[in-house]
Amino acid sequence: MSREVQVTFEVNGEPVSRRVEARQHLIDFLRLELGLTGSHTGCEHGVCGACTVRVDGRIVRGCLVLAASLEGTKVETIEGLSDANEIRDLQDAFIARNACQCGYCTPGMLLTAAALLDSKPQPTRAEIREYLAGNYCRCTGYHAIVDAVEATAAARARRHKQD
Ligand code: FES
Ligand code: FES
Repeated sequence: MSREVQVTFEVNGEPVSRRVEARQHLIDFLRLELGLTGSHTGCEHGVCGACTVRVDGRIVRGCLVLAASLEGTKVETIEGLSDANEIRDLQDAFIARNACQCGYCTPGMLLTAAALLDSKPQPTRAEIREYLAGNYCRCTGYHAIVDAVEATAAARARRHKQD
C-alpha cells in the first residue's frame, strides 16, 4: 500500500505544498506533478547526471532524492535558472560551440557547469573535465562542452576586470 506525506518546499521561487507518495523521487515529482520537464530521467541510479537539479544551492541527483524529504528546502531547476537569466552566458556558449546536440544531457550539464564556475571561476580544462565527469553525454565527446565552459569562464573574467 502506498503511503503519502504532506510536504512544503519552494520550486524556482514558488511555494509548493503537496501530498506526495512517500517513495516518489524528486525528478518524477518535478516532471510528473509540476510539469517541469527540463530535468531529464536517464539511468535513475545516480550515475548519468541527466536529472541534476539544485537543492538549497547544491547540485543533487533528482533521481536519488525523495520528494518527501524536501520539507522547507529551495529547489531550483533548469527552468528557474533560465528564466532568471542566471546562466544565459553559459547557454549561449553551449549553442555557439555546438555543445548540445540531442540535448538530453544539457540541462544537467549546465547546472553542473554553473556550480563549477561558482566554486572555481577559472578552472583548467582538466578541472572542467573532472567536474563534469559525472554527467554523461553520448553525443558530443565532451570537447565542445569543455570549450563552452572554458569560454564562459574567460568571458566572465574579462567582464569582471572591466567592472
Ligand atoms: S537519472 Fe539521475 S543520475 Fe541518471
Ligand atoms: S548532447 Fe546528446 S547526450 Fe549530450
